[in-house]
This record gives sequence, C-alpha cells and structure tokens, in this order.
Amino acid sequence: MWVADMDIDTPSFVVQAVKKRLEFTNFGYEELPLSTIISQINWIKRHHGLEFRPEEFLYSHSVVASINVAIEAFSDIGDNIIVQTPVYPPFFKSIVTHDREVLYNPLKRDEDGSYSFDIEDLLSKINNKTKMLLLCSPHNPVGRVWREEELRELADICVEHNIVVFADEIHSDLVYDPNIHTPFASLGSDIKKLTITAMGVGKTFNMAGFAISSIIISDDNLRKTFKIVYDKIHFAQGASLSHIAMEYAYNHGDQWLKELKEHLVDNLYMLQQVCKKHSDKISLIPPQGTYLAWLDCAGMNLNDSELNNFFIHKAKLGLSSGIAFSRNGSGHMRLNFAVSSEIMMRAIDQLDGALVDFK
Ligand SMILES: Cc1ncc(COP(=O)(O)O)c(C=O)c1O
Repeated sequence: MWVADMDIDTPSFVVQAVKKRLEFTNFGYEELPLSTIISQINWIKRHHGLEFRPEEFLYSHSVVASINVAIEAFSDIGDNIIVQTPVYPPFFKSIVTHDREVLYNPLKRDEDGSYSFDIEDLLSKINNKTKMLLLCSPHNPVGRVWREEELRELADICVEHNIVVFADEIHSDLVYDPNIHTPFASLGSDIKKLTITAMGVGKTFNMAGFAISSIIISDDNLRKTFKIVYDKIHFAQGASLSHIAMEYAYNHGDQWLKELKEHLVDNLYMLQQVCKKHSDKISLIPPQGTYLAWLDCAGMNLNDSELNNFFIHKAKLGLSSGIAFSRNGSGHMRLNFAVSSEIMMRAIDQLDGALVDFK
C-alpha cells in the first residue's frame, strides 16, 4: 500500500490489444502514431472539457523525466522553483539535482485539517529568480482536487511574474464526485502560454509499466524552448506495445474507469470507518482525487520512525512515511487504497487490531 500504482489488473481490452500486436512480429522503430494522440485528445475532451491539437503533444516515457527536462529548459543554475509541500518527492529532488533552489510554499492547513494554497506565503517569497512552479493537480499526497477559483488565483500570480508552470495532472482521471478536475491550461490564454501539462494512462489504467505519458504544450515558443533540451537528450519516440496499449485504454476505457472509481470509493469508505473508530489516534480527510489517503497520525504521539515501525511491525502494513513528502509531512502516513476488496478488508482488520492494542 505504498508506491502509487494499483494492485488491480490493467484492463483486459488493453492486454488483448497488446497480444494482438504481438502477432505482427516486426518491432522496429515506431513513432507515436497520430491515432494514439487523437485517442488522448478525445479522452481529454470527453473527461476534462478541453480540446488540444495534435501538434501540442510530445511523447514522454516518464512524467518525472519530463519535469527534469522542463527544469533544464526554463531555469538556470541558482534560480528558484516553487513546490507546494507536502508533495511527491521527485518534485523537490529534481530541482536539487539540477542545482536550482527549492522555493518551499507549504500548503496551508485549515482548522478542519484540509489543505489549501498559501497565497500570502507565496507572494512574500517570489523574487526575480523565481522561474517555475511545479503544480501537483490533483495533489499527491493530500488528495486535493483544486477548485477552479483556487487555481485561477495561482494562475494570475504566475502570469504577473512570468512563471512557467509544470502542471502534473497524472492523477486527473481519478477524481471523485462531486469534485471536478480543472486543467491548469484551461484557465485562460495567458496562462496556457506558460503551461506545460503532463497527463497519461499510468495511474488511470495501472499502466506505469508501459512507460508512456504525454507532455502537452500549446504555446509554440514554449514548446520550442522545451524541445531544445528534449531533443538534446534524445527522448526518442516510444515503444510500439505502449502506443497500442495507450490507444486502446483511451478509446475503450470510459466504463472501466467508472467501475474502478466505484470500487475505490468502497475501499475508501472502509478506511474512513476505521479512522472514525480511532479518531483520537488517526484522522483522515477523504481524498477528493487520487487513490492515496493521507492519514494524520498526530494523535498517536510517535516520531516518524516509531510511526513507520508501528505500521510495519504492529499493523503489518507497508505504507509511505509522510516525512518523505517534506517536513510538514511529519506525523502522517500515505496509504494506497487501490487494492482488491479482500486485501482492503485484511488491511482494515490489521489496522483496527493494532490500533485497539495501541496505548
Ligand atoms: C504526481 C506524480 N507525478 C508523477 C508520477 C510518476 O510518473 P512517471 O512514472 O510517469 O514518471 C507519480 C507517481 O506516483 C505521481 O504521483
């Protein structure tokens, strides 16, 4: 229940399509076919209401690799790049390994424990070396699906200060009613000019092993600058089995995704019940998106290493330790609930038993 992939099989129609492709036994170089890009364009239009053109798409084998290309392309050594912590660790690691400075803009905690952007803090920290924002939308690990008006406030600041935004929207298909994912690039033409969007099948259909995602850059100049680094390090054109897998997922995956989300909501409900029972020890604000639950374990009064030990040795559950997501993740654990009902029930039983015994 740690790394963010699913313990649920990739759709069988994707597997069947890959098997069929294997019958054609030539696996020479293959460019990302236009039909695959169109399948994603149609998916984004159907699910997120935004229409892109094929020429705005670039292939990537990894969103994290795309983040690294963007950092290299849009900032210089010593510049600073905004991250909103707690956040997926490769965000700040990518900045540091490129000798840029991390500009920490921690998420604000409201009284009920929910998270929001800290705009005041951000405005007090932006300076002329602030070149980029790495936005996680929906947010891993806190599970927020940012509302349009929240994103708009952030977008206005980025436009005013000419800050390039890498909008990591890899979790955007996994959003629970009544929440709606708002693509950052949909907020207006000014912000679209500064936005690089990453989307893909990796999380939605449990296809991280196909190593395929898209970088979408609408502005010609922004795309040209990105491509200087992208071409320099030879991102190539992908893998034939991944192309067909992605195309089938997007063309045939609507119903599968609907059923997946129903299953995830059921799993989340079980988790909420056990957290309610032990609310003096663990509190959970249900995620609005992603299959990741951010457990606030402050009530247990353990340090991070003790907390990790409790989950591993007492509950016998392998989760992600919150401290890995930055300092303000301390006292939290991230639980991946994209598992079968059987595994979920077992996990809940183990957690319940360990919490009953915890004094
Ligand atoms: C927000 C976010 N971005 C990117 C990734 C990884 O993407 P990739 O495997 O394409 O590098 C993850 C995986 O957990 C993630 O949560």
